[in-house]
Amino acid sequence: MRSDVALRPLDEELLQELLDAAVADADPLEVMPPVAGPPGWTPERRSAFLRFHRSRALAAEPVESTYAIVVEDTVVGAARLCPMEERTGAAEAGVWIGRSHRGGGVGGAALRRLLALARADGIDAVFVSTTPDNTAVHRLLTALGVDLVRTEDAVTAWVNPAAAG
Ligand SMILES: CC(C)(COP(=O)(O)OP(=O)(O)OC[C@H]1O[C@@H](n2cnc3c(N)ncnc32)[C@H](O)[C@@H]1OP(=O)(O)O)[C@@H](O)C(=O)NCCC(=O)NCCS
Repeated sequence: MRSDVALRPLDEELLQELLDAAVADADPLEVMPPVAGPPGWTPERRSAFLRFHRSRALAAEPVESTYAIVVEDTVVGAARLCPMEERTGAAEAGVWIGRSHRGGGVGGAALRRLLALARADGIDAVFVSTTPDNTAVHRLLTALGVDLVRTEDAVTAWVNPAAAG
């Protein structure tokens, strides 16, 4: 696993760097919920990106934990853990990496570090859901040794953070 990949808890300073990384290197749909309007990083989407994180991980009462993924002091993406209402002790994980940093092991390292943080937080089950065509996520999950559940619309898996090393 790459040793130069770190997760830093999101704060206002990192949020600005995260927005810059997203605008430079990712599609809005990869990194935030859909916002109506023309494609690309419109002013509305940039504001919505900031609002999204301020209302979740940076809220007075956070609804999830978000981390900036940092490689050699550069923010390259984000990883998050969102507690699941339907199952005590469970959280849903999400990760995105800027395009120019994909395919080099950053996503795999970030996911393993996120699982270690989940374990330290007392989370005993981490849920991951992606699309059937997202081969990179399927491979990340397979590398963790978990079973993938495939439906027409989604591929999902439960990961035990204590067993993920
Ligand atoms: C999914 C994502 C986080 C993976 O990050 P990454 O840094 O590219 O991941 P890695 O380099 O660690 O690669 C993980 C595995 O996927 C494979 N992979 C990476 N990009 C791939 C691609 N475009 N097509 C097929 N396989 C790919 C790698 O070869 C590796 O497999 P291996 O270990 O068996 O060789 C990144 O592609 C991304 O941000 N995608 C957009 C957002 C997204 O889909 N997030 C997931 C939501 S759950």
